[in-house]
Amino acid sequence: MIRMYDLIEKKKHGGELSREEIHDMVAGFVAGDIPDYQMSAMLMAIYFQGMNAEETTYLTMEMAHSGDTADLSGIAGIKVDKHSTGGVGDKTSLVIGPIAASLGVKIAKMSGRGLGHTGGTLDKLESIPGLTTSIDKERFFEIVNETGIAIIGQTGNMVPADKKLYALRDVTATVDSVPLIASSIMSKKLAAGSDAIVLDVKTGSGAFMKTLDDSIALAKEMVSIGTGAGRKCCALITDMDVPLGHAVGNAMEVTEAVQTLRGEGPADLTEVCLQLASNMLYMAEKGTIAECRSMAEKAMKDGSAVKVLAEMVKAQGGDPEYIYDTSRFAAAKVAGEVKAPADGCITHIDTEGCGIAAAMLGAGRAKKEDMIDYSAGIYLRKKYGETVRKGDVLAVLYTSDEKKLAAASEKFLASYTISDGPAEEKKLVYARVTADGVERF
Ligand code: URA
Repeated sequence: MIRMYDLIEKKKHGGELSREEIHDMVAGFVAGDIPDYQMSAMLMAIYFQGMNAEETTYLTMEMAHSGDTADLSGIAGIKVDKHSTGGVGDKTSLVIGPIAASLGVKIAKMSGRGLGHTGGTLDKLESIPGLTTSIDKERFFEIVNETGIAIIGQTGNMVPADKKLYALRDVTATVDSVPLIASSIMSKKLAAGSDAIVLDVKTGSGAFMKTLDDSIALAKEMVSIGTGAGRKCCALITDMDVPLGHAVGNAMEVTEAVQTLRGEGPADLTEVCLQLASNMLYMAEKGTIAECRSMAEKAMKDGSAVKVLAEMVKAQGGDPEYIYDTSRFAAAKVAGEVKAPADGCITHIDTEGCGIAAAMLGAGRAKKEDMIDYSAGIYLRKKYGETVRKGDVLAVLYTSDEKKLAAASEKFLASYTISDGPAEEKKLVYARVTADGVERF
């Protein structure tokens, strides 16, 4: 049996952990034989010293096999998964999943809840009355076979190593580390069993990776792990320096996703979704990227994609009428406008701060056991690059609890920088990373 002390000492000095050492460490931690304080020290050592590609791959494999893995052979056709590294206003899964499923791709997706300042697909979906994301395996397969898509929470004992490690990283300031994020995400994706994986690696002030170089390094690491494990894998590096779309908050984001599925969504969200959906279709061998984009555009225009979302909602116990008529979502009891304090141009948004403001309104959790207020959130009226006059409404904040409004408004306003401008030109998609290399746009 390893001495965890020796491994911490080794990594502290930049040493390389062997496969056996990583195996024993992960197994010992999951079994409860390695205490949190020793694993915390190891996480901090990894944060500062990093891990090489081999160590990261070993860590991912050990985590992926730390519990049950899904066998999707009961679902016919090519199964494509998608994962975002997390952002603010990121409702892309609710758009691209139904688009790809409407074109014959099978999406058997396990999603997560909000983490810190970022939102989570499960919380968004659960804002639809009746919908459940806890579904047993047989019914999950049935729904994917019938409607092409189901989105559920991680079932049973899948990737227990990530559950324990993530909880520890969250409270030890060790989330934003390339090997730790890559192994956390890829262990779940490999255990979830799809044939191909499209990764949406966010970059900017609202992402865990704040710089383009770090985001590309993370994407390369994840693509190399996925490809090495025999899966088709690619990543798009997409902007998270600005919230995506206008809506931040669960029910509001479902509404905006539905508008986007109908081809009536905000331009930035629509473009990012079209590029991600094209890559999912391409991975499923539906055509060239350009052909796949045209197919995705058509599925939005002709209503077939939104129909698939409604079918999925119904199959998961939700009321599909909320998809056909999103005005059914209960309006928040309290609404407050945040106004521009001066004339100028919006030259920066601290997107993490904006996500925290939404969470303060009730759209996210401060503690694991907190209840979500599904109607809470922020509707951004003015975004990056726009010129405003003093007194213009920058955003409307919604909550069920009036006491939360003042502090959230202050946090939100502090996330906007209004200056002389002009704002720098920004891209929505910076690069595509595949096993063959990095294509910058
Ligand atoms: N999402 C994950 O699942 N894990 C991380 O480490 C970061 C984002």
